[in-house]
Amino acid sequence: EVYNPNGKYRVVSTKPMPGTRWINLLIDQGCRVEICHLKKTILSVEDIVDLIGDKCDGVIGQLTEDWGETLFSALSKAGGKAFSNMAVGYNNVDVEAANKYNIAVGNTPGVLTETTAELAASLSLAAARRIVEADGFMRAGLYEGWLPHLFVGNLLKGQTVGVIGAGRIGSAYARMMVEGFKMNLIYYDLYQSTRLEKFVTAYGQFLKANGEQPVTWKRASSMEEVLREADLISLHPVLDKTTYHLVNKERLAIMKKEAILVNCSRGPVIDEAALVDHLRENPMFRVGLDVFEEEPFMKPGLADMKNAVVVPHIASASKWTREGMATLAALNVLGRIKGYPIWNDPNR
Ligand code: DGY
Repeated sequence: EVYNPNGKYRVVSTKPMPGTRWINLLIDQGCRVEICHLKKTILSVEDIVDLIGDKCDGVIGQLTEDWGETLFSALSKAGGKAFSNMAVGYNNVDVEAANKYNIAVGNTPGVLTETTAELAASLSLAAARRIVEADGFMRAGLYEGWLPHLFVGNLLKGQTVGVIGAGRIGSAYARMMVEGFKMNLIYYDLYQSTRLEKFVTAYGQFLKANGEQPVTWKRASSMEEVLREADLISLHPVLDKTTYHLVNKERLAIMKKEAILVNCSRGPVIDEAALVDHLRENPMFRVGLDVFEEEPFMKPGLADMKNAVVVPHIASASKWTREGMATLAALNVLGRIKGYPIWNDPNR
């Protein structure tokens, strides 16, 4: 699909993206926009080399693609200056290789913060109240009437929510759980973010002024402290060498037997095979997963676990957010092509 065929700059999007704002803004600035409609979900490096062709000024790509040496070299040979991931995470991008070829790299933070935090909250509730299990029970025609023991789950109010990684998304999630469900908070953040401190202090004062029971909060000095103390834990770190298998067999073992673990960050942050064993051995332990170690696959056994809620990497999937991500990605590429500082450069 080609828009504005005579445009001066050739910008390729490896996938159709939501909305038209991103297309219009590129066209308005003199770009020819080419959108790939190949009928396969994940494009190979070879597919993308073909798309780049002989002349290409910039590419908007997806987190399922392997943006490394081969692609940046091909883009550079085609005269390209910019690549933007349509994602905030960029573990699929070799930023060093991009730098080597003087290609700017962009990502799309900010517009997905609340949407992603809302999915983490949804998974937390779905796991706590066994919603998916109960839904399956109804659909299977098994409901014979109200029973005192039917699908008894966890009350979140007054329990402790643990957040690992208190950046934009982790902090938004923490606020939702503390404000919405009056949970106590414990969090651990490598980067010493002060976002949450300010919020919880102000919120504590508000509760006090209104005569309501205050929530407690603390910044943990280790991840283990969070894992040991929290009833519900949500993971929000970036994926890099230091966070690969951050939650492993040993760390699962120190969590409460009835804890809930939620992951909307990246799959490899959890050792998924160890998680499956843990779920099997601890039926009261529950998880809500949006991401998997080797997407699109799940580790054997996970799909059979009643104590797991699984969804296909949809944390940022609201219409507003996805259109915003597409627009930011287009702005990133455009900014560089036109010689402006790139909009969102994860290098900075
Ligand atoms: C991201 O942006 O990194 C998410 O995983 C997809 O929205």
